[in-house]
Amino acid sequence: MKRTVLGLAAALSLALAGGAHAQAYPTKPVTMIVPFAAGGPTDIIARIVGDHMSKTLGQQVVIENVAGAGGTTGITRALTAAPDGYTIAMGHLGTFSAAPATYPGLKYDPINGMQPIGMAGGTPILIVGRKNLDAADLKAFVAAVKANPDKFNEAHAGLGSVSWTTCTLFKGILGTPKLNAVAYRGTGPALNDLVSGQIDFMCDQIVSVSEQVKAGTIKAYAIASAQRSPALPNVPTTTEAGLPEYQIEAWNGIAAPKGTPKEAVDRLVDALNKALNDENTKKRLLELGTVLPTAAERTPDGFAALIKRDAAKLDPALKAAPK
Ligand code: MLT
Repeated sequence: MKRTVLGLAAALSLALAGGAHAQAYPTKPVTMIVPFAAGGPTDIIARIVGDHMSKTLGQQVVIENVAGAGGTTGITRALTAAPDGYTIAMGHLGTFSAAPATYPGLKYDPINGMQPIGMAGGTPILIVGRKNLDAADLKAFVAAVKANPDKFNEAHAGLGSVSWTTCTLFKGILGTPKLNAVAYRGTGPALNDLVSGQIDFMCDQIVSVSEQVKAGTIKAYAIASAQRSPALPNVPTTTEAGLPEYQIEAWNGIAAPKGTPKEAVDRLVDALNKALNDENTKKRLLELGTVLPTAAERTPDGFAALIKRDAAKLDPALKAAPK
């Protein structure tokens, strides 16, 4: 009798242990590292998408801002964390496609050394200036910068960030690679200084500047996309504004450390897709000017292909760029 009771107890504890193992991921909050300051484009997308992902996952997606070195500090932290699905990152064109060409000693490898989850949003680039700049349109602005490059202060979010990368391409086209530049921990804080007139211009992602452009607190000279944005229909494309060579599309997307279990990857991909299919989340993203990713871009393979394609595109210009 005693043996039977003991046997039952052992079987029960084995079943409980097995049950605990089988308990579905995630069993605790998931940290999503945003590698820039709060209030900037990466943070905005992460919070909107993360909000809905929390509902699907049944656990909070906690945003942690770890800024520095053009976003590479936060991404290094995320991608060297334990590959257990509890630390992921919201990176972008800069941290995943531009950083390898910008930082020779980069401590992560976006192409072979991480687990892509999916693209979260396309973020068109705008050339924006302080509201009292004399130049009324892009042609006048370009002429003024070319004539007096040392009179213009550019803001960016550090080497390899999207703002730095996209303005590097812009200045390359103008033939004025060296301007006075001020590095911030993100374009959220840079935007505050643009609004208050302490800096002159930047190349920034639509999601953080669209409200200020609509409010008239800053000037938008052009959007570097093939089409105007429905969020800012009055802003001309660079082609319409006379600089067709300047075309660049930025994006944000989620990645996890290499080796993250398939079960966790699948859950994260599913949660990202459910967020991007949710009407309210879509509305919030679209109002800010986000371009929703295609079905393929929302998958790990599609996102990996995008990272690789853009890294190859940016590599020559960024390796040659003054730093
Ligand atoms: C940010 O969130 O501050 C930006 O994505 C910075 C940038 O890369 O320009």
